[in-house]
Amino acid sequence: MKESRFPNDEGEDAWMVVQVFADEHWNAYHDIRRAVLFEARGLIGYDANHPDDRRDGHFPLLLLLENTPLGAARLDLMSEQTAWVRTVAIRAERQGKGYGRMLMAGLEKFASQHRVKRLLVNAARDAVGFYEALGWAVIEAGHENPVLTKELRTRPQW
Ligand SMILES: CC(C)(COP(=O)(O)OP(=O)(O)OC[C@H]1O[C@@H](n2cnc3c(N)ncnc32)[C@H](O)[C@@H]1OP(=O)(O)O)[C@@H](O)C(=O)NCCC(=O)NCCS
Repeated sequence: MKESRFPNDEGEDAWMVVQVFADEHWNAYHDIRRAVLFEARGLIGYDANHPDDRRDGHFPLLLLLENTPLGAARLDLMSEQTAWVRTVAIRAERQGKGYGRMLMAGLEKFASQHRVKRLLVNAARDAVGFYEALGWAVIEAGHENPVLTKELRTRPQW
């Protein structure tokens, strides 16, 4: 199967967001999520064989900078042109340098290509500001993990 690739168009560092297919990309995807979303939070029990990562309509994605994996996320397609964004993570030593913004830009392009018009996320409380900086809006604030949404442009911009 052909990999989906979304090169940036800014002519700076060569970064892209790719759908995970290759074994080395699966390994990086799990390494990043295990380190950032589990170990850094003092959690154990990360499951690299979780069926949700391989389900139809679920797309594991990786941010590559000069072919080095820096970040991971998953896009889960739902009904009515809606998709949930899951497990967004940038390697700890690379956080705060704009890579999260790149990862989400590639994810949005990927989602638009799959006709998604509305994204949703269950955000970690301390990541709400990240999503807001990227144009997301809180729609359910009262939860342990607030729900945010972002409407995508109807026509992809490339
Ligand atoms: C949250 C995360 C994905 C953001 O990625 P990042 O590379 O650090 O973010 P960026 O440097 O691209 O920041 C993009 C913008 O969001 C803002 N931002 C980033 N993290 C933020 C935070 N935790 N709170 C408030 N604003 C934040 C930045 O200031 C920046 O704004 P600007 O471009 O207007 O200056 C990353 O820090 C991470 O992996 N954190 C740990 C795991 C996590 O919380 N994941 C989210 C689960 S829902």
